[in-house]
Amino acid sequence: MEKIAIDAVLNRIEETTGQDANPRIAAIVHRMVRDLFYMIEDLDIQPEEFWAGLNYLAEAGRSGELGLIAPGLGFDHFLDLRMDEAEARAGISGGTPRTIEGPLYVAGAPVAQGEARLDDGTDDGEVLVMEGQVFDGTGRPLRDAKVEVWHANSMGNYSYFDPTQSAFNLRRTIVTDSEGRYRLRSIVPVGYSVPPDGATDRLLKKLDRHGTRPAHIHFFVSAPGHRKLTTQINIDGDPYLWDDFAFATREGLVPPVTRVADAAAMQALGVNKPFSLIRFNFTLHADNAGAPHAEVARPRAAATA
Ligand code: DHB
Ligand code: FE
Repeated sequence: MEKIAIDAVLNRIEETTGQDANPRIAAIVHRMVRDLFYMIEDLDIQPEEFWAGLNYLAEAGRSGELGLIAPGLGFDHFLDLRMDEAEARAGISGGTPRTIEGPLYVAGAPVAQGEARLDDGTDDGEVLVMEGQVFDGTGRPLRDAKVEVWHANSMGNYSYFDPTQSAFNLRRTIVTDSEGRYRLRSIVPVGYSVPPDGATDRLLKKLDRHGTRPAHIHFFVSAPGHRKLTTQINIDGDPYLWDDFAFATREGLVPPVTRVADAAAMQALGVNKPFSLIRFNFTLHADNAGAPHAEVARPRAAATA
């Protein structure tokens, strides 16, 4: 169709918008419809293709996979880059890099003071100790900071979404001590893959892509007067480290992993096999009225312990 004819029908549709419309939603819907009309025109999308796409999205919604498709197509990472830029414009720089939340957080995990064991003892994966401090932007330790941590088991699955795991397995909130320290014992996670033959998997296969993330551990780190940090660390050496289907690996978030085989250290931890040790500090930025909220409101799963 000619542009003038496409614009004529778009205008007719937009003119139906009433006086009491929500202006922000109207602007977004109008823009989305306009862009999609032009996409249909430019790519000569056929009716069968349009309905296949619509039904694909409906099915992805029914199976709860839209939250997986978004990171797989790079949206979550793009939102991170935009937040980085907004912070830079507000004069915020340095600190621990953010990276995507992903769709698998569950609110309500048990709270521990200073340190916690995350695994329920049923996973034979390698023991992991991770420890460090939470600092403010001037290098002062933040006491009573909340370190919310969650990760997959040695099969790459997350408790709650994987009903075979115990409640809140590999999920805790650790409150830092007077020196801003946190410490956790857990098992080394394995990279997550999207559910086989699910909506995300089928789309990625059409693109000749894999749906695997490198092994990673998620964090929300927060403290009064500071911007909430959403981030992850990666387990170094994972073959997918720089080939994450969700594009979330970032410089500064791949700490060295030390293999500890020292008998005294193993005994102190109560283990009889070597374990992995990661030291990682978090640095938060002070609240800043000039930057968008770092606490992103979105629907999240919640459970009770
Ligand atoms: C997805 C899974 C994750 O574990 C994660 O951190 C991010 C995204 C996903 O399935 O899309
Ligand atoms: Fe994850």
